[in-house]
Amino acid sequence: MSNRKMLVTSALPYANGPIHIGHMLEYLQTDMWVRFQKQRGNTCHYVCADDTHGTPIMLKADREGITPEQLIAQVAKEHTRDFSDFGVAFDNYHSTHSEENKYFSSLIYTRLRDAGHISSRTITQAYDPVKEMFLPDRFIKGECPKCGAADQYGDGCEVCGENYASSELKNAVSAISGEKQIDKESVHYFFNLADFTQMLTDWTQAEGHLQPEVRNKLAEWLESGLQQWDISRDAPYFGFEIPDAPNKYFYVWLDAPIGYLASFKNLCDKKGLDFDEFWAKDSKTELYHFIGKDIIYFHALFFPAMLQGAEFRTPSAVFAHGFLTVNGEKMSKSRGTFITARTYLDHLNPEYLRYYFAAKLGAGVDDLDLNFDDFSQRVNSDLVGKVVNIGSRCSGFIAKRFDNRLSAELAEPELWFEFIAANEMIAECYENREFAKAMREIMALADKANRYIDEKKPWLIAKEEGKEAELQAVCTMGLNLFRVLVAYLKPVLPTLTYSAEVFLNSEVHGWIDALKPLLNHQLNDFIPLMTRVEPDKIAAIIEASKENLEKTAAPVVVKEKQFAPIADTIDITDFGKLDLRIAKIIKAESVEGADKLLHLTVDIGDETRSIFAGIKAAYSPEQLEGRLTLVVANLAPRKMRFGLSEGMVLAAGGDDGIYLLSPDSGAVAGMRVK
Ligand code: 2FM
Ligand code: ZN
Repeated sequence: MSNRKMLVTSALPYANGPIHIGHMLEYLQTDMWVRFQKQRGNTCHYVCADDTHGTPIMLKADREGITPEQLIAQVAKEHTRDFSDFGVAFDNYHSTHSEENKYFSSLIYTRLRDAGHISSRTITQAYDPVKEMFLPDRFIKGECPKCGAADQYGDGCEVCGENYASSELKNAVSAISGEKQIDKESVHYFFNLADFTQMLTDWTQAEGHLQPEVRNKLAEWLESGLQQWDISRDAPYFGFEIPDAPNKYFYVWLDAPIGYLASFKNLCDKKGLDFDEFWAKDSKTELYHFIGKDIIYFHALFFPAMLQGAEFRTPSAVFAHGFLTVNGEKMSKSRGTFITARTYLDHLNPEYLRYYFAAKLGAGVDDLDLNFDDFSQRVNSDLVGKVVNIGSRCSGFIAKRFDNRLSAELAEPELWFEFIAANEMIAECYENREFAKAMREIMALADKANRYIDEKKPWLIAKEEGKEAELQAVCTMGLNLFRVLVAYLKPVLPTLTYSAEVFLNSEVHGWIDALKPLLNHQLNDFIPLMTRVEPDKIAAIIEASKENLEKTAAPVVVKEKQFAPIADTIDITDFGKLDLRIAKIIKAESVEGADKLLHLTVDIGDETRSIFAGIKAAYSPEQLEGRLTLVVANLAPRKMRFGLSEGMVLAAGGDDGIYLLSPDSGAVAGMRVK
C-alpha cells in the first residue's frame, strides 16, 4: 500500500453564475482521480472554493440590488449543492472572499514587493464618467474595427472572430452606462514576471510538470518574452485592498489561485493538519492542479512564479483538459445544450455522466464531446447491460434458493485471480488519468464475467435436480466477479458502488490487490443498481435548457440605465430653431459600397430633398416608398462620400433596432412639426 501525501485542486468557479456540465467535466475528472488516490491508500486532500472577486460579480450584485457578499453567499449554496449531488467529494470548499485568502494574498504580495518583483506606473485606461469606474475590455462596446459589426465587446468580435484592443473599437461606449468612455490615467501595480524567466523555463520544461502539448505551448510563450502582469484595479472593485496602496485592489486573478492555499489553510484549521507540510518551500508532499486549457497561462506561469517569489513550494504538476462540446458543437443556449448542473440533475442520474466522462477522458487536452446517443448507448450497454446485469443475473438464485448465502469455495479460482491481476494495469491507467483506457479494461473484464455466466447457464442448472451446489457455486463466482468490477469502478461510480456494497454486505476498503473473495458469506437482498437511460429525459433536459434561456434572456451585460441620459436642457427658442417637416418618401434605393445607408428622395411639400439615412439594417427600399415620416429640414447639407445629404430622417432606437417615425393619419408632406 502506497502512502503518498497529496493536495489536489480543481479550478475555482466564478461566483456569478451556475455550474454547468462543461464545468462538471473538470470536477468529475478531479473527483475520480482523488477517489482513486484515496482508494489506493494515499493521503489525499481535495480542496476548492468559489472565485468571488472582480468587476462582473460587483456589477451583477449591483443589478440585483444586493451586496456582493449576499450574491456570493447565495451562489456558494447553489454551487456546493450541485457538486454534492454529482458526488464531488471535496475535503474542503471555501471562498476567495475569506480571511485566509486575504492573509495569504497580502503575504505573497508583500514578499514579492520586498524582493523587488513589484513595480508601479501610470497607465491610461477607458473610464466610464457616469458610473465613475474604469472599464474592463468586456464592458466596452462599439463597432468591430475589422467587419464593422455593431455592439461588439472590447475583448473580441463575435461576428468575425477578430481579436483587438478595446481602444480599436469604433464609436465605443461603456456597456454599463451607455455613455461615451473617456481616457483616464491611474497608477497600477505590476508583477515583474520576467524576473522569473529562467525559473519558469526550468519549471515548465522539466519532465512531469506539464503535459507534452502544454509544455510546447509554454516554450513558445517563453520564447516570445514575458510581460509585466497588471495586478491592481482601482476602486470601485470587489476584492482585497492592496496593503500599501489605498483604493487599489488586487486583480481577481491575483487572489484566485491563492484561494488554493486559503482553502487548504481553512481545512488545516478544522482538521488539525500541518499547512507547512504541504506549502513550505521544502515540502515533500505532492501538489496537483486540474484546470481547463484556457487558464494555463495563469497556472503554469503566474502562479508558479508567485509561489517561488514568495518562498512557497511550486506545483508538482498542472493537468489541463479540453472543453466540453455537446452533440459536436460548442454548448449553445439556443440549441438547448447549455445545460446547467441542476437541469441535468433534475432529470438524469449523475452517475451516467460520471461514467460517460470517464469512458471518454484521456490524459491530453483534447475537447470531449457529449453526444447524447452515444451517452445512452454506453451507459445502457456497459453499466446496465454488462456490470449491473451480472449482479441481477446471479443474485436471484442466491436469494431464492440459498437464503442469500454464498458457497464456501470459489468455482474458478483462476478467473478470480485474472480479475485481481488486472489491478496494476487499471491502477496505472487511473494514475495517468487515462480514464477511458481504465474503463475499457474494466468492461473487457465485465465481458469475461458475462461469458462465464453464459457458458455455465445457471438458469438451466436451476431446473435440474440435485445440482444445488453447482448452482450456488456458479452464482457465487459470478457475484464475486461482479464485486471486483464494482470495486474497480468505485472512483467513478460512488453511489452505485455504495448500493452494491450494501447488497454484498461488504465494503471495499483500499485497492483491489488486497481484495479477498466473499465465501460462505451472507448477502442482503439485491438492490436495483441502475436503470437504462430514458430517452424522454434527455429531451426534457434540452427543453428545460431552452426554457432557462427564456428566463435568463437578458443580455450578458445589462445596462444599468436602460436609455442614454437626457441631454442638457434647452429653451423654447433653441427648439424653435429646428424645422421639422412631414416628408413623403418618393424613392428609396441602396447605395453601392455602403452597408448601412439608404438613399431617400423625399417630398417635403414645396420641394424634394435627397437624404442619406443609416436605416438599411432595418428597412428595405420597398418598405419605405410611399410612406410618410419626419425630417429635420433646416439641417445644413452634409457632403458624404456618396453625395450630398440635404436633411435628416427622424428615427428612434439604435442598438436595439431602428424605428422610423410616422405622423398620425391626416398629416401631409410639408406640414411643420412643432
Ligand atoms: O476561469 C475561471 O473560471 C476562474 N474562476 C478560475 C480560477 S482558478 C484559480 F486560479 F483560482
Ligand atoms: Zn468583426
